[in-house]
Amino acid sequence: MSNPKWYPEKLRVPNRGTNATYVFMKTVYRPLEHFCYAEFGIWKADTAANVCKLFPNATLFLFDFEDNIRAAQEKLSVYPNRVHYFGNSQRYNDSYNWALGKLVAQNGAKPIFDYCFLDGAHTYAVDALNFFLCDRLLRVDGYMDFDDYSWTLRGSSLDPSAVPEMLLQYTEEQIDSLQVKMIVDDLVKTDSRYVEKIANKVYQKLRA
Ligand SMILES: C[S@@+](CC[C@H](N)C(=O)[O-])C[C@H]1O[C@@H](n2cnc3c(N)ncnc32)[C@H](O)[C@@H]1O
Repeated sequence: MSNPKWYPEKLRVPNRGTNATYVFMKTVYRPLEHFCYAEFGIWKADTAANVCKLFPNATLFLFDFEDNIRAAQEKLSVYPNRVHYFGNSQRYNDSYNWALGKLVAQNGAKPIFDYCFLDGAHTYAVDALNFFLCDRLLRVDGYMDFDDYSWTLRGSSLDPSAVPEMLLQYTEEQIDSLQVKMIVDDLVKTDSRYVEKIANKVYQKLRA
């Protein structure tokens, strides 16, 4: 029987959010520019709050587990009408990809995102699919941003010693593999439509 709340309640995440992401964004967007930013895995919405502050005309699409999305709605309530929220359950095979797939269906072939920041599950099972779905929705000239290139489940806040469900969800090989690196190296770097802007992190889409 799966645990309905298996995800840890504490993560080692900086409370200012992911500085490297919004610092990079400041180099490519003017402060008053309008663009659409999607973040997969928002935790306490600290990166999202910085994006709201730095870019008052940006529209945000935020994805995470339902509890984190509810907290983000509260925290970002000072930015009404600019943020779209997408929550999902903690069922083992549920993820932000479900809501993202529905956005693909709603929008057909029309891309809607300018910037996709992928900082969620960090696993191939979830995030390789996320990359392909984001690619469908990412405009030409838009950016894919991947956090934690060198991350493994082992040694993270999801280490099986702290979260035993990991042993039901992943093999020992998967627990020790650099799964974000696999996505970046094998799916993004090998795609000639993408050019690297920050090593092992940010990639710009050059062609449809
Ligand atoms: C490293 S934290 C995100 C940090 C955040 N991007 C920031 O910059 O502050 C990872 C987040 O991914 C979310 N996440 C992990 N697996 C998920 C899944 N299957 N579905 C939805 N969210 C997930 C977690 O709830 C957590 O909030």
